[in-house]
Amino acid sequence: MHTILLTGGAGFIGSHLTRLFVKKYPQYKIVNLDKLTYAGNLENLRDIENEANYQFVKGDITDLDFLRKLFAAHQFTAVLHCAAESHVDRSITDPLAFITTNVLGTGSLLLAAKEAWAGDMENKIFYHISTDEVYGSLGAAGFFTEETAYDPRSPYSASKASSDHMVRAFYHTYKLPVKISNCSNNYGPFHFPEKLIPLCIHNIINNKPLPIYGKGENVRDWLYVEDHAAAIDVVFHNGKIGETYNIGGHNEWTNIDLVKELCRQMDEKLGKEKGTSEKLITYVTDRAGHDLRYAIDATKLKEELGWIPSLQFEEGISKTIDWYLANSEWLTHVTSGDYQKYYNQQYHNQ
Ligand code: NAD
Ligand code: DAU
Repeated sequence: MHTILLTGGAGFIGSHLTRLFVKKYPQYKIVNLDKLTYAGNLENLRDIENEANYQFVKGDITDLDFLRKLFAAHQFTAVLHCAAESHVDRSITDPLAFITTNVLGTGSLLLAAKEAWAGDMENKIFYHISTDEVYGSLGAAGFFTEETAYDPRSPYSASKASSDHMVRAFYHTYKLPVKISNCSNNYGPFHFPEKLIPLCIHNIINNKPLPIYGKGENVRDWLYVEDHAAAIDVVFHNGKIGETYNIGGHNEWTNIDLVKELCRQMDEKLGKEKGTSEKLITYVTDRAGHDLRYAIDATKLKEELGWIPSLQFEEGISKTIDWYLANSEWLTHVTSGDYQKYYNQQYHNQ
């Protein structure tokens, strides 16, 4: 039995994780705490919002008094911490927002858990969801393992690295029962169209340019979001306290090859002539400090806990495109309002 505080459940990964836990564990109670920033959207959870073991609470993880009251009210036995500012480009224009939410917010959550669980850490879990970006940037060869030294290079990854360090500090100093996982790039339904894949799908649908930073040679290791949620489930239940697990797809693509594959599949699905969407590809100014390559070695997760990704990329990307084509209303809602302002600033009205 668990009563779980799941933070950031209205976001991309958080909504998939919430859905998985609510459906798979009817005996658990899941309290989704989310501030509903531009990235948080309760539409992502419509299918489970009335489930008996689910509750939504609007609130901010940086508000320690509020967190203390929430812990007192619900007697949580576990935390699944997803809430964060998550977009690298936004961290370049507004680093303080990332320091506030990712560092101060995680610190506040740790403190609230430590106080609530003081004297009885038995069967408690503080699970921190993190990223492979904390390890920095790889050259053409090699992989990130759990032993790779941290070398974050963007305000986003530096804030996530700081939060990881703080989680480990609470484990060593106060014996808080923590677990951490560091995952590679996710893709799938409900992905906010500021990130490469949903942004390109949205722009192909609307016949707009597909902005490729630099030469499109940067490499990312893509994992279907439901596979990430499944891996978190495995680590939550079977992973060791105090340990870190890398999660990845062994699925590396250069950005340009990935976008060309998207174009190919979308031309087919939209009944357009072959090569139509590729003509939208537009090379734009590179991201400042753009990490060249991320690639995860997930051997520990495979050998210790038996987890491997379930989906091949071609199938995952096809499912993802189908979802966006079938959910045009969701896309319209999230791209109205402030999105347009962000888009124009980021891409200089292209
Ligand atoms: P997201 O931006 O889609 O969602 C973040 C959620 O957190 C939103 O619902 C937002 O409203 C909420 N939030 C933000 N600030 C908050 C605050 N102060 N208080 C409460 N809620 C707040 O992010 P995502 O892509 O789903 O990422 C979730 C987590 O997974 C993050 O910690 C991220 O670092 C990590 N991660 C993401 C990826 C990826 O590819 N997206 C890969 C590895 C790890
Ligand atoms: O590796 C895990 C990380 O993956 C997560 O921790 C982050 O939260 C998540 O946003 C993601 O970070 P990236 O920066 O890799 O994702 P993004 O989709 O922003 O960019 C993917 C690649 O595409 C990257 O090399 C930059 C490039 N890109 C991105 C955008 C938005 C473009 O070429 N053009 C674009 O318009």
